[in-house]
Amino acid sequence: MRPGEVTLIQKNPETARLAEVAPWHENTAACLAIGAAILAAMPPPPATVLECGCWNGWLCHLLAKANYSVRGMDACEDALAYARRGEPFGEAAKRPEFFTGNFEESMGDGPPVDVIVFNSAFHHSERPAETLKAAYAGLAPGGRCILVEPGFGHTLSPQTREHARQWDVTEKDSPPIKIWRLGKKAGFKRVKVYPHPGTLFQSTYLPSAFAMRPSLRFLSSWFGGLISCGFIGAKWGHGMTVLFK
Ligand SMILES: C[S@@+](CC[C@H](N)C(=O)[O-])C[C@H]1O[C@@H](n2cnc3c(N)ncnc32)[C@H](O)[C@@H]1O
Repeated sequence: MRPGEVTLIQKNPETARLAEVAPWHENTAACLAIGAAILAAMPPPPATVLECGCWNGWLCHLLAKANYSVRGMDACEDALAYARRGEPFGEAAKRPEFFTGNFEESMGDGPPVDVIVFNSAFHHSERPAETLKAAYAGLAPGGRCILVEPGFGHTLSPQTREHARQWDVTEKDSPPIKIWRLGKKAGFKRVKVYPHPGTLFQSTYLPSAFAMRPSLRFLSSWFGGLISCGFIGAKWGHGMTVLFK
């Protein structure tokens, strides 16, 4: 893990601002679309969930409100301070628990869980094969791992490169096809692949969100959105991958 993963909130004022308010900010609609897709991929509650790279914990709080028993792990203690403080969806029957850890090494000390979630976190792993092995080991029999991650092209973006350089964090392309290749080696038996819910939502309902990025301008139509997030794009592009143990 790069040192910047731990210090991002401390060093980057924009990340600190977002941690204070997420998911209630300028990208709330796309955030909630991701939350909705993850909920749709979950087994029915009650089930136990671990979110890896949970940051300010907004998704953990959403899942707790939906009656799951939730733990959130992050390498960054400053992010977890926000997670412990907030309840962005109001009081849940059971509050999530948060702990510091490194998902490249293990899923922590708790008992095996039914679901492990990575939302925009797996692609920060320096050691993706080991991360999926640790996720496999951390799942109960019949469990599943849900990953919502950017695919090929992510690291071609100048913004991504600058972010990685400036803040000393890892950025990797993590399309479903790569996740499944590594997932099979880790022991997962089956996969389901879906379009990336945030990209799909933005390209259909918020095409102006792409207007600022010339490389993504073709997405500013339903057609472009369906191509990028549909049958072809979901495998190679940004996607939601569900691995079954
Ligand atoms: C882009 S943020 C995603 C946050 C959150 N899941 C969301 O979508 O709002 C990535 C998070 O992963 C965490 N992270 C990166 N590498 C990690 C590692 N090896 N172990 C644990 N957390 C890690 C970072 O500290 C950061 O909070």
